[in-house]
Amino acid sequence: MHALSSSWLHFRNLQPRRTEWSSGLNLLIGANGSGKTNILEAFHLLGGWGPFQGGSTLSTLLSWSQPDGTARIEGHFSGEEPLSVQALIRSRSSLRLDGKVTKASEIRARLPLLAFQPGDLALVEGSPSRRRAFLDRLCALLFPLYALRLFEYRRALRQRVCLLRQRRDATLTTKVLAPLGAWIWASRRSAVDLLRLGLEETGDLLPDVLDVELHRGGSVGLDEPERDFLEAIGRNAARERAIGRVFVGPQRDDLLLRSRGREAALFFSRGHRRRVAVALMLGAGWAVERRLRRKPILLLDEVTAELDERGRDRTFAVLQGSSWQVFAATAGGVAYEWPGSVWVIRQGEVMER
Ligand SMILES: Nc1ncnc2c1ncn2[C@@H]1O[C@H](COP(=O)(O)OP(=O)(O)OP(=O)(O)O)[C@@H](O)[C@H]1O
Ligand SMILES: [Mg+2]
Repeated sequence: MHALSSSWLHFRNLQPRRTEWSSGLNLLIGANGSGKTNILEAFHLLGGWGPFQGGSTLSTLLSWSQPDGTARIEGHFSGEEPLSVQALIRSRSSLRLDGKVTKASEIRARLPLLAFQPGDLALVEGSPSRRRAFLDRLCALLFPLYALRLFEYRRALRQRVCLLRQRRDATLTTKVLAPLGAWIWASRRSAVDLLRLGLEETGDLLPDVLDVELHRGGSVGLDEPERDFLEAIGRNAARERAIGRVFVGPQRDDLLLRSRGREAALFFSRGHRRRVAVALMLGAGWAVERRLRRKPILLLDEVTAELDERGRDRTFAVLQGSSWQVFAATAGGVAYEWPGSVWVIRQGEVMER
């Protein structure tokens, strides 16, 4: 899929204007605070993903000059099918697809959009929660029920923790947690299998071999996920009761990254870790394309910032080879050759260079 055009009204600092984008690589350049990330966020909202800061309230999205207004973002897309998407934001937000109110999960499946922010560059050495968040975003695109099941799992997990802390019997919650947890484990495993294939498409962007594997949190090593979950919960029962925490389940998973038998976080230099992170992001794009048979749109905020010339060239080569539509943002001017369209953002206004 790709955006043909977009427009916005009363959204953050962006000036109301319709822009017709290139179907290939779009680079947004401009000073700090000019509105580049806001543009990426507008697409993020259109793709059914909500604001960039998951927790930020919708009112922060409304232009400060129109605090009582309604922000409106609109995009027309083409590719595997033509789509018109509209996001209306007030105290609540609603999404419309071709004029009809639609669920975010429906839009995510038809308009697959992958966003990577500067923080994602620490995917390799960051905490497991960062890698779980990456897997969750990928799974939410690959499996339409994933976001809902994860929400239900987390709700049941909170109940279990509450019961454990009150020293009450938590056995009933196992009946809810085990099938949900096993389903999430199975989905994550499929996603990692697809990601592995996706990484093969990134050519020599990876600085060295990379082994990618899902580590199930608290697993006792049984292959069948639900049996593994139940067995592990059984073995941890006394510890759970004593400490009031749940030691088994997807909330404790990690995506293990290794190269030549060593942890990737130790094996690779900082710059190479950045390249691995970018390769994982692009590998995720391939995973999405392979499963959904739709080309994803990529939102890349400052992701090439810490790459050397070689890393950058290889990233651009993969992007060009993919023929995905890309919106990349970078502060200031560009000191390198960008193989696509360049847009200058100045005080919320978009101008073609
Ligand atoms: N609701 C809002 N209404 C008006 N302006 C806003 C609103 N929310 C944020 N802004 C402004 O938007 C400006 C642009 O933000 P944005 O994060 O898009 O900049 P950027 O171009 O990505 O900058 P950087 O290069 O520093 O990342 C910010 O300086 C902020 O003051
Ligand atoms: Mg920014």
